[in-house]
Amino acid sequence: MNRRELLHTLAGAPLITLPGFAQAQGPRSLSPAPAALAAAGETALPVWAYDASVPGPVLRYRRGDWLDIDLNNQLPEATTVHWHGIRLPNAMDGVPHLTQAPIEPGARFRYRFKLPDSGTYWYHPHLGAAEQLERGLAGALVVEDDSPPPVDQDIVWLLDDWRLDAQGRIAEDFYRFHDVAHAGRLGQRLTVNGALRPELALRTGQRVRLRLVNAANARLFALQPEPGINAWLIARDGMPAPQAVPWDAPLLIGPGMRADVVVDAVRAGRFAIRQFNGREAEALATLVVGGANDTAPRPAPVPSPYTPPPEPMLAGAVLHTMRLGGGARSREGWPADTPEARAARQQRRAAGAREADPVWTINGQAHVGDHHGHHPPAFRVPQGRSVRIAFENPTAWWHPMHLHGHHFKVLSRNGEPLTEAAWRDTVLLAPGDRAEVAFVADNPGRWLIHCHVLEHHAGGMGTHFEVMA
Ligand code: C2O
Ligand code: CU
Repeated sequence: MNRRELLHTLAGAPLITLPGFAQAQGPRSLSPAPAALAAAGETALPVWAYDASVPGPVLRYRRGDWLDIDLNNQLPEATTVHWHGIRLPNAMDGVPHLTQAPIEPGARFRYRFKLPDSGTYWYHPHLGAAEQLERGLAGALVVEDDSPPPVDQDIVWLLDDWRLDAQGRIAEDFYRFHDVAHAGRLGQRLTVNGALRPELALRTGQRVRLRLVNAANARLFALQPEPGINAWLIARDGMPAPQAVPWDAPLLIGPGMRADVVVDAVRAGRFAIRQFNGREAEALATLVVGGANDTAPRPAPVPSPYTPPPEPMLAGAVLHTMRLGGGARSREGWPADTPEARAARQQRRAAGAREADPVWTINGQAHVGDHHGHHPPAFRVPQGRSVRIAFENPTAWWHPMHLHGHHFKVLSRNGEPLTEAAWRDTVLLAPGDRAEVAFVADNPGRWLIHCHVLEHHAGGMGTHFEVMA
């Protein structure tokens, strides 16, 4: 068995995952468990998967529906599920030790809440996340628009990368110091819905909506279609743009972030969606367009009307600065570490614990691992107050900063006010960036703020805040 065969194994996963399930009575069961991805006649790739599918089933709902899921943990270790981007009750947020107890192997937990917003969201573990996601646990959660732009197909593309070892298995070097201190864990094989360089067959005249979800631990996707198809960006992080923006430059999608695009097949041919890595580009997936005749370009799609969350009141809102620190090549902000602490970590690791070294900070504090319940909140705010946060990134690395339980409005980047209404749940900071966001803290509870490069979060780049009812 060689690596090539195993990549075929990955390529054997379905390009379009299961259709959404119909709303049934009572909870739907969802079970994370060890599984094997296999194409017929080949050696299987061991993964961890929701309902034996990589990625997990696409959960599809309409706005206002109840999500009702009975999670049945069949993994050899504890887990939780976080419903990324959903404005849900705190007890359903899936953050271990902060909003719920870990779900032990063999145990169940019922997640039940109403879906307040349409859009493209996703679900993933929030315990030992850097390892559990890397082993294959992630899926899309789609809440359909009330009045979506008409399309011939509405497809989820869950983007990921995989680090395979010399035997072609998932490399088990999770939390490697070098990865934690640099860009995070990058894999050498890029997949769409678990498939290597898949093809999507279209006919001229067809219009397709692609819901792109970046489920990679650390990879920044920078995607652009080859000339020959017409494409637009219509939503970010699930939230519709005021109008469709032509997609004719690399579209940056940081870990955790989503982008909804619409593509029109106007002439026959093969058109790659390319991933840019500096100057180099590789095909991530290819649209294979058939049909005898070219079709006339169609007008841009009209994104669904967007109902934003309450507008923050900027006058009088307290400004919280979150200055990121640490990481390789950084001159400031490395967390304090002592020989005793290092020795204790080494002992825990020898006993089988998987954890990162403290390498990253927010305002000088490193909160390593899944223990956010053990430190005080970065700030408290009475429910209904407006909050401003300024993220400052003096480090040498990119950080997609994600906030739980709320959507925020990006007000400015590097002093430039943003003119479009940019509502998001994650803001991507390039090295040197400063971005200011604001939101109404209307959802009571304790909510995480963290970098979605999972190794950065594990290595300390996370904190929480409390909205007091
Ligand atoms: Cu997608 Cu705190 O996570
Ligand atoms: Cu980061």
